[in-house]
Amino acid sequence: MDAAPLYRQLATHYRQAIAAGALAPGDRMPSVRALMARHGVSLSTALQTCRHLESQGLLEARPRSGYFVRPPRRATLAPVEEPHPSLPDPAQYIGIHQRVSAILARGQARPDALNLAVACGAPSLYPAAALQQAAMRVLRHQPELFGRPVPFNGTPAFRAALAQQALAARMTLGADDIIVTHGCVEALNLALRAVAQPGDVVAVESPTFYGLLQILENLGLRALEIPTSPQTGISLEALDLAADAYANIKAVVVVPNLQNPLGAIMPDAHKARLAAWAEARSIALIEDDTYAALGNDDTPLPALKAFDTSGNVIHCASLHKTLAPGMRLGWIAPGKWRPRVEMLKYAQSRPNEALSQLAVAEFMTSGGFERHLRRLRAQLREQRERMGEAVAAYFPAGTRLNVPPGGFGLWIELPGKLSSERVFDAALEDCIRVSPGVMFANSGRFDHYLRLSCGSPWSRELDQAIRRLAALVERLATS
Ligand SMILES: Cc1ncc(COP(=O)(O)O)c(C=O)c1O
Repeated sequence: MDAAPLYRQLATHYRQAIAAGALAPGDRMPSVRALMARHGVSLSTALQTCRHLESQGLLEARPRSGYFVRPPRRATLAPVEEPHPSLPDPAQYIGIHQRVSAILARGQARPDALNLAVACGAPSLYPAAALQQAAMRVLRHQPELFGRPVPFNGTPAFRAALAQQALAARMTLGADDIIVTHGCVEALNLALRAVAQPGDVVAVESPTFYGLLQILENLGLRALEIPTSPQTGISLEALDLAADAYANIKAVVVVPNLQNPLGAIMPDAHKARLAAWAEARSIALIEDDTYAALGNDDTPLPALKAFDTSGNVIHCASLHKTLAPGMRLGWIAPGKWRPRVEMLKYAQSRPNEALSQLAVAEFMTSGGFERHLRRLRAQLREQRERMGEAVAAYFPAGTRLNVPPGGFGLWIELPGKLSSERVFDAALEDCIRVSPGVMFANSGRFDHYLRLSCGSPWSRELDQAIRRLAALVERLATS
């Protein structure tokens, strides 16, 4: 049973109709009278529905004519540029750790700032109360839980629930194929240590999640930054050129679904080609599938691992963004490297504690996870659209913008090659925290980009923050 008020349920219905194109920009919304007759609702519910859609920026009221579907304002901003599939620069030792840490520290020193830098949802977006109840039920049924050691590789119940979930992403994994980790970051560390030695070359997307660059730096690996499309992900042509030009690439790390920071989704045909290419070249393929469940569509996005025929793809993921930022629960399906990854995990940190795994297993098997994800997807979509519209409305000409089909972030190209670090500093002065593009590549190639998080419900405060940010960009761009 949907607990949302009737007008919100109707608004969702019409929002979906607009998204699907059944009601196109410029079309007339059914009149208030038609809504009353069609859905058997009162005048005030029909009016509230239209007003709610208007407040979401989806409808506009025209005097004496009724409500009309509004063209998205962000159509006025061009999308960020596609990269050229050129030969990448040679692999480099990463020297970004200090830069990233310094930027993070500067941001953290301003806890009062509005945080548009975090690639995660606001606490209100996650089912903390339901998870708390599940954890309490687990402890009631297993009062001796804290007195028993945790099973090797994680609890069977959680691994079985993950294996069940994996089916939706078209992977066929048994519970034994999965090792529970401390978030995706531990999974990535294990995967890289399993397939590469210090000094080896690893191909990565460019731009990429700065945490990955930090991991590579910590492991003494060299990164080969491969041009990556905001629409289709890593350039397979550039990867092929790179593998011919620079022998000895040990691994490729990609975020095939809703890449951070671009939001790209690799088409299934590319996933299949990439899996076959890596297999043929004996290069390990490491997939970070952190965001896959957060697409606009309720149909799950297939994992790269779904196209793996030989165990060459290592699948890494976590619940940090999708279910519980406060639990450090991730996992790895290491394919043919399982014995080595098991050994590394055991040597590195031993199994994760059991309570959170068991609570989540219960939540997943009860169907709570799927219901939560449906709500979260709809909420994030609305938040991205609202922020995208605000950026389009307030930022100066020359700004380019990507509103991706899922996830938490907008990727913005600043006008006039304005330095994102200057924007970062000035925004922080004004109590707004953003992620400057300089964090997302070892080279300075993305210095004039910004990532803005849309993890929080839209509010007047956010609208004003985007307005202030835009004014500041305009001032810096013209000074
Ligand atoms: C692509 C990607 N992978 C991994 C992580 C972090 O994963 P976890 O918190 O599960 O360790 C992030 C967080 O920003 C991310 O964007």
